[in-house]
Amino acid sequence: MGVRPHRKRLELMLMVLIGLAWGLLLSELMKRTRWQNRSDRLKEESSPFPSSQRSRILATPPTTAPPTTSPPPDILAARLFNETRVLCMVLTSPKTHHTRAIHIKRTWGGRCNKLIFMSTKADRELGSVALNVREGYSNLWPKTRAALQYVYKHHFQKYDWFLKADDDTYVIMENLRAFLHAYDFREPVYFGNKFRQHVKEGYMSGGAGYVLSKMALHRLVKLGFGNSSICTSRNYGYEDVELGRCLAGVGVVGGDSRDEHGLSRFIPFSPLHWYPLPPEWYQPLLYYTAPDNSSDCCSNTAISFHYNNAQEFYVLEYIIYKLRVFGLNRELGQLPKKETNSRPTLIHFQAKTAELDQNALNKLVPGKNVTKPNYRTKNTSKFKK
Ligand SMILES: *[C@@H]1O[C@H](CO)[C@@H](O)[C@H](O)[C@H]1NC(C)=O
Ligand SMILES: *[C@@H]1O[C@H](CO)[C@@H](O)[C@H](O)[C@H]1NC(C)=O
Ligand SMILES: *[C@@H]1O[C@H](CO)[C@@H](O)[C@H](O)[C@H]1NC(C)=O
Ligand SMILES: *[C@@H]1O[C@H](CO)[C@@H](O)[C@H](O)[C@H]1NC(C)=O
Ligand SMILES: *[C@@H]1O[C@H](CO)[C@@H](O)[C@H](O)[C@H]1NC(C)=O
Repeated sequence: MGVRPHRKRLELMLMVLIGLAWGLLLSELMKRTRWQNRSDRLKEESSPFPSSQRSRILATPPTTAPPTTSPPPDILAARLFNETRVLCMVLTSPKTHHTRAIHIKRTWGGRCNKLIFMSTKADRELGSVALNVREGYSNLWPKTRAALQYVYKHHFQKYDWFLKADDDTYVIMENLRAFLHAYDFREPVYFGNKFRQHVKEGYMSGGAGYVLSKMALHRLVKLGFGNSSICTSRNYGYEDVELGRCLAGVGVVGGDSRDEHGLSRFIPFSPLHWYPLPPEWYQPLLYYTAPDNSSDCCSNTAISFHYNNAQEFYVLEYIIYKLRVFGLNRELGQLPKKETNSRPTLIHFQAKTAELDQNALNKLVPGKNVTKPNYRTKNTSKFKK
């Protein structure tokens, strides 16, 4: 009893199901063709020539070149990511792993080609390196020295530029790469916010971060560290001042990273706290006098800000990367020109160093002809002088 009607019900259900499946399939197919048509139409719309003319133009190529356009900024940024490889080294301490450093990992740190946290304790969540040095502000110099040595030993090959940041520094990596793109990492040069005290050539303030070229790091470690007449082996002192002395001692030039209006790109304070006027201590420390016709503290192509608290990392992230203003297109789609005359300002160091540089080029920069076919000068003979 009840078997037959049960079976009938089953058959009915099966038919309904099959019907449904067909229906879904058909509607999906129709949707696809509609999309196909739409994207074909879009393609046509974005073609510079009306479709009626296209076949004619294809047959006889135009005598003048079509307008060249820059690739969309996101593609340009992706290309730069590959071409200007930056290792970011963030100095932190066990006390601030989870109050500061972790926020770097969750925000701008992810845009580095390689991100390393230098601490005195290993931390799995953060992925920090435990350096064998003493903790504390007064030990910042030995810590920085150890960190740079670590990076040189383990990660020198794969990167072109080496950025040092503190765990309260915010860096706009795309602006850093665009700026660096104009320079050759084979030049002994470093960039940051240049202060005038203590070191004749100036030094880059620690908080805004500084970035060393591959050659700068190479000279620093090979010629400076381990030679106490160049780099002090004292275990105290201001990290940025000592590094400035040390780099000057090995012929590394402190480059000028100001923008075309003379405004700073590496900023040792945060505009979230000081805008438009910088803190009082700032101007007197500057190596280059700030332009007095400007009402702005900071470049529109700023690279870094300092003294950010945890929340501010996310505020900056939101304002810089997410917030859009309707109807305004403020994208920067073009790379700055290559610096062709940066060389004359560079100091010629001892002949021995130059030889070492030449060897360094051959041995330590294997990616020379692999990853940078487009922009890098292939002429390395200038290091022979
Ligand atoms: C960057 O390099 C990666 C890996 O080599 C490659 O897959 C990607 O297409 C490159 N991106 C650009 C925009 O060149
Ligand atoms: C250390 O640096 C000084 C000064 O530049 C130089 O004369 C000396 O040869 C260096 N010592 C070593 C061991 O390289
Ligand atoms: C200020 O003056 C300098 C030099 O005269 C100029 O390059 C810069 O563009 C000026 N800045 C502004 C904001 O007018
Ligand atoms: C780079 O150049 C060297 C010498 O010019 C050559 O032997 C090597 O094959 C090149 N590497 C690549 C990947 O093209
Ligand atoms: C390489 O540079 C040197 C000095 O800067 C110059 O004399 C030489 O002609 C250049 N070689 C090539 C192939 O451009």
